Amino acid sequence: MEAICQDAKDEFFTHYVTPAIRANALYEGAYPVSTALTRPLISEHLVKVAHKFGARAVSHGCTGKGNDQVRMDITIRSLDPGLRIIAPAREWSFGRTEEIEYARKKGIPVPVRVESPYSTDENLWGRSVECGVLEQPDKEPPADAYALTADPRKAPDEPEYLTLGFDKGVPVRLNGKAMAGVKLVQAVASVAGKHGVGRIDHIENRVVGLKSREIYECPAATVILTAHSDLEKYVLTRRERAFKETADREWTNLVYGGLWSEPLRGSLQSLCETLNGPVTGEVRMKLYKGHASVVGRSSDNALYDIAMATYEKEKDIFDHESAVGFIDLWGLEARMASKVRSRKP
Ligand code: ARG
Repeated sequence: MEAICQDAKDEFFTHYVTPAIRANALYEGAYPVSTALTRPLISEHLVKVAHKFGARAVSHGCTGKGNDQVRMDITIRSLDPGLRIIAPAREWSFGRTEEIEYARKKGIPVPVRVESPYSTDENLWGRSVECGVLEQPDKEPPADAYALTADPRKAPDEPEYLTLGFDKGVPVRLNGKAMAGVKLVQAVASVAGKHGVGRIDHIENRVVGLKSREIYECPAATVILTAHSDLEKYVLTRRERAFKETADREWTNLVYGGLWSEPLRGSLQSLCETLNGPVTGEVRMKLYKGHASVVGRSSDNALYDIAMATYEKEKDIFDHESAVGFIDLWGLEARMASKVRSRKP
């Protein structure tokens, strides 16, 4: 028997995290799809290893209730329809306690106890925590549910600033220093985590039709997505940005729903990449007691022009008179409708 363990962090950053940033990926406006992004990559490696060994079946530990089974099964079957998929936890309808008990009996070390039965999943982009008391949506998550982020009450009393530099929508610089993706994300996660940034408590709609209460810790994703989205607003036209919101949401829904292999995912991704062409510049973030806020941004591609925007008369180049004619035509149809519809019969 042989065990193969692969470090796919660079690949994960380049092919999964990067498009997620460019798509501002937040499922239902809250979850940075950190677990969801990894499943197609894990499945791809699983199939590669199966081929290497001439295996006829692959196995995974997903339960029959979650999204991960959907993501893994669909990717595996798209890559090799001939491979049999064995999912013991699903086939034996194991509950969390039975899983822990089974692992104990077989001498498999698992970092959970029956008293603290959190199911966690952790990667570069974040950490998901489920089960135990977290299944009660009215209860505040206990302190031990969190591992990457400080309790904001105990976070430093002084704010900390980070400057993120983006190149075509990808974070490439931290505080003016060029950094490779994985290192940059790890560095942001550690500073943001120290300030209690990135805790998410989310009532989520799963693919299988269940609602679930999910706890996430995504310090780096929270900071980077907030900064990226701000920079997009600064450099894209309002029409690009408005249309992109639809593309972003569709891309995110496909990824959450396990449809990485759906061709539309690739098409939307190309669109987001194209639209991120001008998303180059710096965003200054302030981290303080659980909050990550944008406090400044700059870009050579900014469509903001202070000479146009200013309210200082001497510096202003905006043509105030053209506003009158613009308003006349802009409201033309609305005015006509008001007149026609208020007519007495
Ligand atoms: N609800 C999240 C998702 O579907 C998190 C899944 C966490 N997975 C786990 N094995 N604990 O992406």
